[in-house]
Amino acid sequence: NWNMKNFIGTEIERIRQLVGPHAEVIGAVSGGVDSTVAAKLLNEAIGDRFHAILVDNGVMRLNEVETVHKTLTAGLGINLTVVDASEEFLNNLKDVSDPEKKRKIIGNTFIRVFEREAAKITPKAGDEIEFLLQGTLYPDVIESISFKGPSQTIKTHHNVGGLLDDMKLKLIEPLRELFKDEVRELGELMGIPHDLVWRHPFPGPGIAIRILGPVSPPQIEIARKADYIFIEEIRKAGLYDKISQAFACLLPVKSVGVMGDQRTYEQVIALRAIETKDFMTADWFEFDYQFLKTVSRRIVNEVRGVARVVYDVTSKPPATVEWE
Ligand code: XMP
Repeated sequence: NWNMKNFIGTEIERIRQLVGPHAEVIGAVSGGVDSTVAAKLLNEAIGDRFHAILVDNGVMRLNEVETVHKTLTAGLGINLTVVDASEEFLNNLKDVSDPEKKRKIIGNTFIRVFEREAAKITPKAGDEIEFLLQGTLYPDVIESISFKGPSQTIKTHHNVGGLLDDMKLKLIEPLRELFKDEVRELGELMGIPHDLVWRHPFPGPGIAIRILGPVSPPQIEIARKADYIFIEEIRKAGLYDKISQAFACLLPVKSVGVMGDQRTYEQVIALRAIETKDFMTADWFEFDYQFLKTVSRRIVNEVRGVARVVYDVTSKPPATVEWE
């Protein structure tokens, strides 16, 4: 599309003008399409004067940190620092079951870790870090205008206000006029891999809100492995692009099973897959039974600690997409 091609050139030029020759920019990346496209624009505009930070919160998907690291550095040439803060996050999450508390803890820990790591980044001699990159899209801009006030608890957005105050960073938001489909188009045009551009959304609090009850390393391992198998089978069946979002959820309920001639007493995995246009309403996806049979067999056979697999057949509303 000609317009989007124009946008790239114009936006890169605008970023260069805004940042000038001696300022540098920091920004968090998550492996999602928005932060990756924003980071790529900055990389094209100012090269290594843009510093990306990936915070490993310990509740990302299986192999996610390694994959994102490789794609952003070797693949896209982005100047990236990976920070392993998983211990800090998991300590803060210890024994917490309440979904909104989990979200708050993860959001607050993220801000603390990001601020600390941002302060460690040294700019080139004569330069100063003056800007913070945010992957804000147009719908986020609208939402934050129309939902002002104490009633805005629909989604807890990450807010790096402290960082802005202390370091006096100015915001740079190259995607603030774009919709999601335009960001994807931009991503394709800038050479970001197709699979990343068309990825299902993944919540900031990660699999912490897909493990009901307390989050612990053994629970994370189960949830990660089950989710990985489910997504792998979805891709194999050619269904990934037909589904809007899919994941596995770990229910800390024990049920009896039998493996070989052994009685087992293990937990439940709930699979969730939905189709939606805007995530405000959603229908559950109609897999064929053979597919569900394959996934169920693989999860019970390959993931220790799971005795039973169920499929969530609830639409939104009345259910939400996530279980927490
Ligand atoms: P729900 O569960 O509210 O999800 O129907 C709608 C969409 O929002 C995502 N979601 C989140 N994203 N932080 C995020 O960044 C969150 O706390 C959060 N909660 C839900 C969810 O994955 C789905 O795409």
